[in-house]
Amino acid sequence: MSKVIVITGTATGLGRATVDKFSAQGWNVVATVRKEADLKIHDGDPQVKTLLLDVDDEAAAAGFAKQALEAFGRVDALVNNAGSYQMGPLEATTMDQVHRQFQTNVFGLVAITKAFLPHFRLQRSGAIVNISSLTAEQGYPYNAVYAASKAAVATLSEGLSMEMAEFGVVVRAIMPGQHATRIFAKIDAAADVPEDYQAGIGSFFGVTPMTGSSPQVTADVIYQAVLNPVADQVRYYSGPDSVAIPTAKRILGPQKYWEEFREAAVGRPSALWSALVPAPGTEPLQRDI
Ligand SMILES: NC(=O)c1ccc[n+]([C@@H]2O[C@H](COP(=O)([O-])OP(=O)(O)OC[C@H]3O[C@@H](n4cnc5c(N)ncnc54)[C@H](OP(=O)(O)O)[C@@H]3O)[C@@H](O)[C@H]2O)c1
Repeated sequence: MSKVIVITGTATGLGRATVDKFSAQGWNVVATVRKEADLKIHDGDPQVKTLLLDVDDEAAAAGFAKQALEAFGRVDALVNNAGSYQMGPLEATTMDQVHRQFQTNVFGLVAITKAFLPHFRLQRSGAIVNISSLTAEQGYPYNAVYAASKAAVATLSEGLSMEMAEFGVVVRAIMPGQHATRIFAKIDAAADVPEDYQAGIGSFFGVTPMTGSSPQVTADVIYQAVLNPVADQVRYYSGPDSVAIPTAKRILGPQKYWEEFREAAVGRPSALWSALVPAPGTEPLQRDI
């Protein structure tokens, strides 16, 4: 019998590539989109059933889990992929924006996860894959709220992996580097940024590459993270800029790593940093600011 995976936020980007990857490997897929207009996005693939889901709606999580379980009669894996990107200096970011960012990237993810946990625990098997980010590995300027939300996802995944291990359920956090997806074309940007910040923002974005990896790169890593029998590995890195980070941290040690990262982030990478951490993939990136 084919295995079944639930993937959230599949209209575009990493989620869509992950649907295609698992379907091509013979899995049945419960995909989710949040706009009715996107419900037909996976039409033509008989292994995919597409449901409407806005992960911000915590009250909908239990009903969604029931629907997802009924779709193919079982669920073997859950990929919490839906996410959004808030950007700008913290001073200019409104509390509404902070709440929105955590609602989608953290609280919504927690609500969906909780809705599936009884099923996985009773089944004594399952894989939960949470999409974190390379930005969770260290704070980034002008992305501090996004990075904090993704750090929450990574550490939540680590703690949960220990809780669920005795029930045969694995939990992974994927740490993608920069990927060329639509997320950069719909940034929830801070408005009315004081002029004082413009120079810093300019030098940060001046050195942020306008390229990224193809979404298939992370879809392949998610596939490995679901199938990989190493039960106690939680963090999986994807994309060249991310895969390099654990080695860079080991070689440099925590403080030196942080000092090198800070310099690189404002456009002054050392030769050592450049040798240790490659640029992201080569696909062109569309950024709306
Ligand atoms: N691209 C990168 O460089 C990168 C790097 C690290 C981590 N990530 C993470 O990867 C995940 C996928 O992002 P992506 O880069 O593939 O961007 P994307 O193409 O914008 O995909 C994000 C998906 O999440 C959906 N979504 C957003 N808010 C939602 C909500 N409240 N409820 C349900 N679905 C929602 C979006 O739906 P709509 O189409 O309706 O907006 C979209 O389908 C995100 O968690 C992101 O933070 C991305």
